[in-house]
Amino acid sequence: MGHRVIIDTDPGVDDALAILLALRSPELEVVAITTVCGNAPVEQGTQNLSRVLGLVKPPTGLLIGQGAARPLRQPLQTATHVHGSDGLGELDGFRNQDGSPRYPKPKLPRALPTAQEMWGECLHRYPGELTLITLGPLTNLALALEAGPTPLRQLRSVISMGGAISVPGNVTPKAEFNIFVDPHAAQRVFQSGLPITLVPLDVTNKVALSRKEIQTLTADGSDPVLRFVADATGQALSYAERVEGAPLFHLHDPLAVAVAIDPTLVQTVPLHVEVETEKQANIGKTMADPRSPRGSQKPSPNIQAALTVDAVRALKLFKQRLSRK
Ligand code: RIB
Ligand code: CA
Repeated sequence: MGHRVIIDTDPGVDDALAILLALRSPELEVVAITTVCGNAPVEQGTQNLSRVLGLVKPPTGLLIGQGAARPLRQPLQTATHVHGSDGLGELDGFRNQDGSPRYPKPKLPRALPTAQEMWGECLHRYPGELTLITLGPLTNLALALEAGPTPLRQLRSVISMGGAISVPGNVTPKAEFNIFVDPHAAQRVFQSGLPITLVPLDVTNKVALSRKEIQTLTADGSDPVLRFVADATGQALSYAERVEGAPLFHLHDPLAVAVAIDPTLVQTVPLHVEVETEKQANIGKTMADPRSPRGSQKPSPNIQAALTVDAVRALKLFKQRLSRK
């Protein structure tokens, strides 16, 4: 039995690669996957999740839930300009040799449980064993806390991709996307007392694959998962080449999953983090106070933040696992 995890995700190309990494890593037992609005509207995200699961033989009994369609207070701002209009690299554009769709649209059940329903079921079944890995905005987790934090105390840990501590944001100079989309949710979650390990841009920016490396990784087109990696990353690589000047694909979400697989990949520090939710210019900024609490004037740390990473080992793990059949 592996380390049991729930993944909360806004697929999203890097989310998709993170999910595939989790499903191809024996250290993890993915018990449930829930979707949240973010990179794409949540209905699209759920469809994207289903398309990704269609590439592999998902674990029997894998539970799927669909979460929040909008942030707590902000209007939803997606990242389809990065991930493609479908949030997954414009998959409808890919065809097999016979002209059939390479990634047929999945048939989804009419009604899916909510994220909260799904998590409640899992926490009841596996008290104290589950790590929640969040790969998108923290709306589902904030709503679960509002509904009643007690069940969430049964979580073993929370690993969240998000924030920017000592580096610029990637949506504004101050804010990282997952926190920017729902700053009120992030502030609520960071003050909750849950055992959170934050995986911010400080480390995820250092774990990236170039177009060339992706071409090398996916050269053997016989594995549908690796062919998906090649197909799905194309749009984001072109965006990065245009905007950042280099065709680099940042493995933001896969690093959060990799930390669940091997926590020694990163070094964390205890921080007290607050999220800017008022000043528009800084909205979504993660404000960290690294000073240790001396006396009552300094707030105690509320999260562990990963600020350094062994990027070489992280990339090696990602490539090795994605290449497993
Ligand atoms: O800032 C990177 C994060 O925002 C990743 O989770 C990516 O998928 C987007 O959701
Ligand atoms: Ca994501």
